[in-house]
Amino acid sequence: MAKIKAAITGVHGYVPEYVLTNQELETMVETNDEWITSRTGIKERRILKGEGKGTSVIGIEAAKGLLEKTNTNPEDIDLVIFATITPDMVFPATANLVSAAIGATNAFSFDMGAACSGFIYALTTGTQFIEAGTYKKVLVLGADKMSSIIDYKDRTTCIIFGDGGGAVLLEPSTDDNGIIDAIHKSDGTGAEFLKMKAGGSAYPATHETVDAKEHYARQDGATVFKFAVTNMADYAAKIMERNNLTADDVDWLVPHQANKRIIDATANRMGVTEDKVMMNIEKYGNTTSGTIPLLLWDYEKKLKKGDNLVLAAFGGGFTWGSIYLKWAYDAK
Ligand code: UT7
Repeated sequence: MAKIKAAITGVHGYVPEYVLTNQELETMVETNDEWITSRTGIKERRILKGEGKGTSVIGIEAAKGLLEKTNTNPEDIDLVIFATITPDMVFPATANLVSAAIGATNAFSFDMGAACSGFIYALTTGTQFIEAGTYKKVLVLGADKMSSIIDYKDRTTCIIFGDGGGAVLLEPSTDDNGIIDAIHKSDGTGAEFLKMKAGGSAYPATHETVDAKEHYARQDGATVFKFAVTNMADYAAKIMERNNLTADDVDWLVPHQANKRIIDATANRMGVTEDKVMMNIEKYGNTTSGTIPLLLWDYEKKLKKGDNLVLAAFGGGFTWGSIYLKWAYDAK
């Protein structure tokens, strides 16, 4: 019997309305549009405003849109996995809040935190349940409200990150299309270079942690950049080799949107030309767990059944990896 594959059968995204431009950032920190554009490729990012609005807002909007466009009854969803590092609360899981809001009353749900690799980790996890024949409909979300952990006085981080994300539906594949292969890695020795120190069990919130601004994401940009360039490119190349794919075979590179220079380096290493590289960093910045579903959403209309996609990500942890999949449907 042919092995069951898991295929993405729909995608939907959501970004908040508020646009934070490079020009506005120029009024907040010592920076300029030219520096941000040439060093990162980012022009603007979205910010979720409003008291009490967390990452679930993004997830709920994306999931609702996805159910509607795929004509899916929420009661048929078996599992909801939400990749995020900015959950509404430490607990309960944001995935549970989404399930309740969309009426996925028969699903069990959990969050997964792997920073910028969160979505590809979650996609691989969801795939296992479909391939094993355990479940028929798995909702995989990736979203972050990065503005909730960014210090808008720190010019080395505030120019990069934004809020947004998306959701995909995973179902058993009826043909050869679907997720074919995945390679994932993590290395905790990289933890110190990109992290939010306080707010967890090691350094719970105190007046001191707040005063020391330890509830914000901090990174050693140059070190993270070096590891990101090497690992994203290596693992994208590795998955091509392992599946005998040449650059011509690859229809789309779907790279985590951290920095245009990292994306260009990955494409160069793969030998893939710019017209095959999905990119929307200029309008959303780095939405952490949200970048890859947002790319799939933005490019959905260009994708054709059978297209070969290579997804690649690198992020805090360190975490990284790549996924090779064959797109399963033509956009309507
Ligand atoms: O998504 C998860 C993982 N995260 C990443 O992949 C991010 C990886 N890192 C990066 O993308 C880049 O390292 C950054 C965009 C964060 C920084 O770019 P860089 O080319 O590595 O710059 P740098 O940190 O080496 O700084 C170069 C100069 C410094 O000035 P001096 O010391 O040369 O005088 C910085 O102070 O640029 C200065 N600088 C800025 N200038 C204007 C740093 N941030 C800014 C800024 N505006 N926003």
